[in-house]
Amino acid sequence: MDKKLTIGLVGFGVVGQGLYDIISSKDLNIDLKKIVIKDASKKRSLPSDYFTTNIDEVLLNPDINTIVELINDADTAFVIVSRALKSGKNVVSANKKMIAEHLKELVEIQQQHGTSLLYEGAVCGSIPIIRNLEEYYDNELLYSISGIFNGSSNYILSKIFNEGLDYDTALKQAQDLGFAETDATLDVGGFDPKFKLVIAAAHAYGTFINPAEVLNIGIQSLSPHDLQYAREKNYKIKLIASARKNSDETSVLLVLPKMIRSDNFLYNVENEYNGVIVQAAFADQQFFFGKGAGGHPTGAAVLSDIAALRYQYRYEYKKYHQKNRVNHSNDLILNVYLRYTDESLLNNLEFETISERFYSANFQFIIGKISLENLIRNVEFIRENGAFIAEIPEDESHVLIEEQIQELIHTH
Ligand SMILES: NC(=O)c1ccc[n+]([C@@H]2O[C@H](COP(=O)([O-])OP(=O)(O)OC[C@H]3O[C@@H](n4cnc5c(N)ncnc54)[C@H](OP(=O)(O)O)[C@@H]3O)[C@@H](O)[C@H]2O)c1
Repeated sequence: MDKKLTIGLVGFGVVGQGLYDIISSKDLNIDLKKIVIKDASKKRSLPSDYFTTNIDEVLLNPDINTIVELINDADTAFVIVSRALKSGKNVVSANKKMIAEHLKELVEIQQQHGTSLLYEGAVCGSIPIIRNLEEYYDNELLYSISGIFNGSSNYILSKIFNEGLDYDTALKQAQDLGFAETDATLDVGGFDPKFKLVIAAAHAYGTFINPAEVLNIGIQSLSPHDLQYAREKNYKIKLIASARKNSDETSVLLVLPKMIRSDNFLYNVENEYNGVIVQAAFADQQFFFGKGAGGHPTGAAVLSDIAALRYQYRYEYKKYHQKNRVNHSNDLILNVYLRYTDESLLNNLEFETISERFYSANFQFIIGKISLENLIRNVEFIRENGAFIAEIPEDESHVLIEEQIQELIHTH
């Protein structure tokens, strides 16, 4: 059924304006009734009678059947979105923080009130990953989803690595271009990709995880020494969000910098682009690439959700309702590079094995295996110390030798 969509838009910033540009570029049979903003004194690109600062003008308007929530305040957004869903209106949102922090509750509200909340634009901007996880990979065993989920930290890493910019200049550029969140720590500290990862994991594995329980370590303490190490080994450093199965019943989520080899799809994902690798049992490896931020790319994802509401599309959270649901776990051993200054950090981290160690007057690093649980316990210590930690691929020659030894043992 082709339902007429009457829209109350909340928020007219980067994404709100981007969405408006797209909607107004052709006849989509979408009726934008009102736009709610915060600051009535700001100059706008549309006539003033479109705007209001009173949220009730859209929430209590019976002529509006769809709320598009695009504000930059997660707490207020939750109040608006839950009120809208409870009052029988469908909602589209791009607010990853709000959705990640309240997902379970939002799913229950949708079920109780028969309404739909869609949020493709909240995860990796223009990349259609949520609907793919929900629909296409419905019956597939997913080993992992991993990738570059944050455009601004990727932009910063690209500028530092490829053009030799220093960290502060690269961050300032990302902010000037509108890629970075108002509070840059959300991006460079790995919080923003963590929110997206938590949402993606709900659709990949049916797990609703409190973001506070997921490790996020960002790129703030990256130093020229780390770059030097990566270059010498032909790696690039990327901030990677990943959800991986670690057993039949459990999956592990984390956000951590990673040294990437040139044969990894993510190696060539530069600047504000995002990339997502899905590793599935039968489809094998698949790669999604696209713009992860910006008004028009994100607006395009929001519009796709609005259009899906025309035919009453809703996420069914099928994997959450399955009998053999996957649980969240932190049981994982990681191979990491750690640059540090304070020796006591090493004692606290209790490396399981150490494969390489370097010590000079102003540069110390260690490569070895560490448990994720230990990393989580020491995350504040790592941040306060200015230590830089990155996952690093296993030395494959070792792995090969190990495998050959195992094979020899089995065949003799
Ligand atoms: N920017 C991106 O590339 C991107 C990508 C993906 C997802 N997102 C998400 O999309 C959302 C919007 O981001 P944005 O970059 O468009 O933000 P933005 O440029 O900072 O704009 C925020 C808008 O929200 C309005 N607003 C704030 N509080 C409000 C309130 N209480 N009531 C009504 N309006 C309010 C502001 O009003 P005024 O105009 O009056 O100040 C402004 O129009 C965020 O959740 C963000 O995380 C952004």
